[in-house]
Amino acid sequence: MSAVSGPQIRDLLHDAAARLSAAGVPGARLDARILLAHAMNVTRDELIAAGRPPTADEASQFASLLARRLAREPIAYITGRKEFWSLDFAVGPGVLVPRPDTETLVEAAIALFADRHAALRIADLGTGSGAILVALLKELPGARGIGFERSGQALTFARANLESHGLAARGEIAAEDWNTASGPFDLVVSNPPYIPTADIDGLEPEIRLYEPRAALDGGPDGLDAYRNLSSLLPDLLCPGGTALLELGEGQTQRVKSLFQGLQVRQIVPDLAGISRVLVLKKPN
Ligand SMILES: C[S@@+](CC[C@H](N)C(=O)[O-])C[C@H]1O[C@@H](n2cnc3c(N)ncnc32)[C@H](O)[C@@H]1O
Repeated sequence: MSAVSGPQIRDLLHDAAARLSAAGVPGARLDARILLAHAMNVTRDELIAAGRPPTADEASQFASLLARRLAREPIAYITGRKEFWSLDFAVGPGVLVPRPDTETLVEAAIALFADRHAALRIADLGTGSGAILVALLKELPGARGIGFERSGQALTFARANLESHGLAARGEIAAEDWNTASGPFDLVVSNPPYIPTADIDGLEPEIRLYEPRAALDGGPDGLDAYRNLSSLLPDLLCPGGTALLELGEGQTQRVKSLFQGLQVRQIVPDLAGISRVLVLKKPN
């Protein structure tokens, strides 16, 4: 492999960031660094320190990664990785990229259990990449869990992520609709699709053009999945069991009113102060 003559790292980064920025890509400079580091198979910190220009192969790889980002493909799909709860997840087309907001749900779930080693039974309904389930099993080493996912593409990632985090002995992914789940579970978690159908076309291109509709679309008012879960949860939870549901902005009161048979324990805000997680308890 020969080294590219001419453009050096800083020039390449500068040019790429300018193109991304002109195309309206948010975080253009950071994305340029991530993509070049990915093309050169080095970390972002090593990029400048490496002190060498990319090889011709690496430069060509960078050009094709950049073209994908200019077309607004999510950076996580291009690199195939996303950090969630300080853990590394495999992601790609067909699976929702786990969001920082969802860490609020993980944090609230863990805080419920004084004994981190309790033998809990956990279900994650609509597990996607397995992000929530993996984070919970990591933090609760006595727990066993099952994720339900009806998208074949998504569950392949979830299984790979359970495996890569060494959790295959305590966790499994059921290639099934969550309506087939049978309890009892001590803890049920779900980040269901909750965006009203008509709002999806107004979202940024990374989401509306690339992320799976089945992970986003909550029906005409965004509440279809919650209505479904409201009839399932009372039977899935053990007496005294807890469910945590992620909420879309402004949905709290309407979602709360659907869960008549369960007690509302808490509504947890995310870091932006938006009500993000509904905590429900089945009476003993
Ligand atoms: C918003 S995504 C959440 C993914 C992941 N839990 C996360 O937080 O990143 C919702 C997921 O639920 C899945 N899903 C929706 N309805 C389902 C159903 N009835 N049964 C099983 N999975 C379902 C979708 O395919 C999608 O992967």
